[in-house]
Amino acid sequence: MLAGKNILLIIGGGIAAYKVLELIRLLGKSGAKVVPVMTSAAEEFVTPLSVSALAGAPVRTALFNLEDEAEMGHIQLTREADLVVVAPATADLMAKMAHGLADDMASTLLIARNKPVLLAPAMNVAMWENAATKRNVDTLRADGCAFVGPDEGDMACGEVGFGRMAEPAAILAAIEGQFTEGSLNGKRILVTSGPTHEPIDPVRYIANRSSGLQGAEIARALLARGAQVVFVTGPAAAARPEGAEVIEVETAQDMAAAVEAAGALDAAVFAAAVADWRVAQASNRKLKKAAGKALPKLELVENPDILATVSQRKTGRPRLVIGFAAETDDVVANATAKRKRKGCDWILANDVGGTRPVMGGPDNQVVLISEDGAETWPWMSKKQVAEALAAKISEALA
Ligand code: C5P
Repeated sequence: MLAGKNILLIIGGGIAAYKVLELIRLLGKSGAKVVPVMTSAAEEFVTPLSVSALAGAPVRTALFNLEDEAEMGHIQLTREADLVVVAPATADLMAKMAHGLADDMASTLLIARNKPVLLAPAMNVAMWENAATKRNVDTLRADGCAFVGPDEGDMACGEVGFGRMAEPAAILAAIEGQFTEGSLNGKRILVTSGPTHEPIDPVRYIANRSSGLQGAEIARALLARGAQVVFVTGPAAAARPEGAEVIEVETAQDMAAAVEAAGALDAAVFAAAVADWRVAQASNRKLKKAAGKALPKLELVENPDILATVSQRKTGRPRLVIGFAAETDDVVANATAKRKRKGCDWILANDVGGTRPVMGGPDNQVVLISEDGAETWPWMSKKQVAEALAAKISEALA
């Protein structure tokens, strides 16, 4: 994915620096060459020896080091890089960048760079929310810097809130995202999203819980890579992805018909929470309640399984069919069985029975089940899950 890419990795001085060791490992696995630079504060958290051993390259620390400069001048370091990544991006390092200070190797490289930069901020929640940090982040965004994270959660200092550095897998996905504009050019991909509503009568319906957020984020991540996206959505709260061909539906039968009508597809992602059953004879008049009147008996019939139908098509099957599985127990075993039963290529499974809310919440933790087994992804925002999935899809369709 990142084969041949040269990443200049600037490690700032924060406790999250330990997670950068894992990031270096992931970058190496995906074929990137990592050129590490550490601030002197970073050396208080992880050793240059660990960093250089994992990167397979010497660490640059001091600005005025004759030996290092003789080998490769610091300006040259940024000229040879394809991308500059700052992780953890501390409040101090971002303040220096925003103001153009250059008093050590890291800040000098950042001002001398002529390459895009991606920042993974990490700091205490009060530091992240401080007005000065906010101004600096706005300045850096206006200067064209890209950001990944920070995430919300427990911090090393014992406080809880925004400020945790994004997980290494999410940073890797964001790095890949910097190189992937156009990686899905010319690909036509369908995404189903949201719940379906199965009418009981004109005012009542049966539905599953679904905000439609994960599906919308997947559509956006695919669009960002140049895909042509057909977005078939039930009545969901989430904003519709701009740039997609949006088809609004209400029932599972409508959704199945819209999917059939979508024509030839390279891939299809079934993120919708489709109701399994519908009322056999929905009333076209409101069912009235009255004292002494028997309760209405609802006879249910099964809805078409859209994912299974598309997965098992004899002709015109998309090359890649992806389903979701929301499970409360034995997530991997159930999702593995579901993948076989439905006939799809991948299943993104999540545990919706845990204490951390997935449905309606901003974050998700998924396991990707494929023919090759199960790959557990860390907790990430739904946007980051979408970006990681889009990266996988573009690899599979390449
Ligand atoms: O069988 P279950 O509903 O758990 O499977 C979930 C997966 O199947 C999701 O990807 C969902 O979008 C898809 N599905 C479907 N049509 C149905 C039921 C589920 O496409 N009728």
